[in-house]
Amino acid sequence: MVPKADVLVYNIGQAVLFPKKPLRRVSPETAGIKEGYAIAIRDGNVVEVGPSGIVRSKYECNVCINAEGRLVTPGLVDPHTHLVFAGSREDEFELKLMGYTYLEILKRGGGIYRTVRMTRNASIEELTNKAKKTLELMLSGGTTTVEVKSGYGLLPEHEIKMLEAAERASRELPIKVVRTLLAHVVPEEYLDKRSDYVKLFDSIIAEVSRRRAAKYIDVFCDKGAFSVDESLHMLRKGIEEGLRARMHADQLEYIGCSLLAEKVYLDSIDHLEKTPPENAKILAATGTVATFTPTSMVAMMEIERPKVINELRRLGVPIAVGSDYNPNNMTPLQQTAMDVSTYILGLTPLEALAAATVNAAWSIREEGGQLVPGSPGDLIVWDLENYRWIGYTWGYDKTLVVISKGRVWKNLIS
Ligand code: NIG
Ligand code: FE
Repeated sequence: MVPKADVLVYNIGQAVLFPKKPLRRVSPETAGIKEGYAIAIRDGNVVEVGPSGIVRSKYECNVCINAEGRLVTPGLVDPHTHLVFAGSREDEFELKLMGYTYLEILKRGGGIYRTVRMTRNASIEELTNKAKKTLELMLSGGTTTVEVKSGYGLLPEHEIKMLEAAERASRELPIKVVRTLLAHVVPEEYLDKRSDYVKLFDSIIAEVSRRRAAKYIDVFCDKGAFSVDESLHMLRKGIEEGLRARMHADQLEYIGCSLLAEKVYLDSIDHLEKTPPENAKILAATGTVATFTPTSMVAMMEIERPKVINELRRLGVPIAVGSDYNPNNMTPLQQTAMDVSTYILGLTPLEALAAATVNAAWSIREEGGQLVPGSPGDLIVWDLENYRWIGYTWGYDKTLVVISKGRVWKNLIS
């Protein structure tokens, strides 16, 4: 009997398979680059990867896509987003252009605080519909798995509302949402009683865990947000309640946040704009992924290359990249983060691709980011000849075919 494939992509020019996860040192040898391959997908998963002639003659395909010699990669995985929020902050963009800093805007009750007010006033349906539209846009640009943080509710009912909206928004879409409870800032009404808020947050963690509403706890550890000690307490409480941990660290100023990787097990530590190079060895020792968000560096109007990056590379720390989509950084496409990471972080095109796929999936401990039998049927046919065009050409959507969980979401070839 001839085996059946739901989708078969054949006549692939160059396929990047990423057979190993995570990828600590990215090179054409470790990336698994193949020419003239085909990939068969059935019941949502990859079932076979091999030479085009062999795979094509073996399977009967329901949807058969001729890649016509183009580049094929795993679907993109976005490991850092603030997808759910209400309203927008375009007027603050102008304030930033006038020279106001992120912290100055936050201290005047703008920034995160402004989005908190709008998000608290929004219904779950409003949040869900807005988030769903963004997810559709993300999918169309090749994102097939996305991490989504809370953090604009700050009070129990509103944090739970955000996490619930994230789940609802993804319900009918072939995109996997991985939820994170984020301790973002101390709410304005608690600014003179911070320790009471940290206690209240303990109860939010417990409730989120009881409802299984998040996989991760995350804390914004920085000047103007949470201190190192407060962050340590919240991360430990999250782990005690059965969540995995990740953290925003050293984004605005260095106050020692990345040192926490030694004290709590973090799957990923994100931002690292101001991290001293010597802290790279902590991540190398603990196995923590270093996740950068290059488009949010642009939005912060601070685009100096992070000093820690070369040391991370030298020590073989897995590097991931995320969009950090949020009302301060309206860049929903992981494709853009991947492309600009070449310019801003100095990643090679292949490192950028690994950072946006296999290492991003590892940073959220999810399947995906690879094209091997058994991995999710998440795949992109790019309007590119080979991976060297990643970053080289950018600023438009270069995906022609997006397949997610075995479903053809977009096909501009046929
Ligand atoms: O990752 N750093 C903290 N949180 C976001 C920004 C959130 C906001 O400004 O609304 C970030 O950049
Ligand atoms: Fe963030």
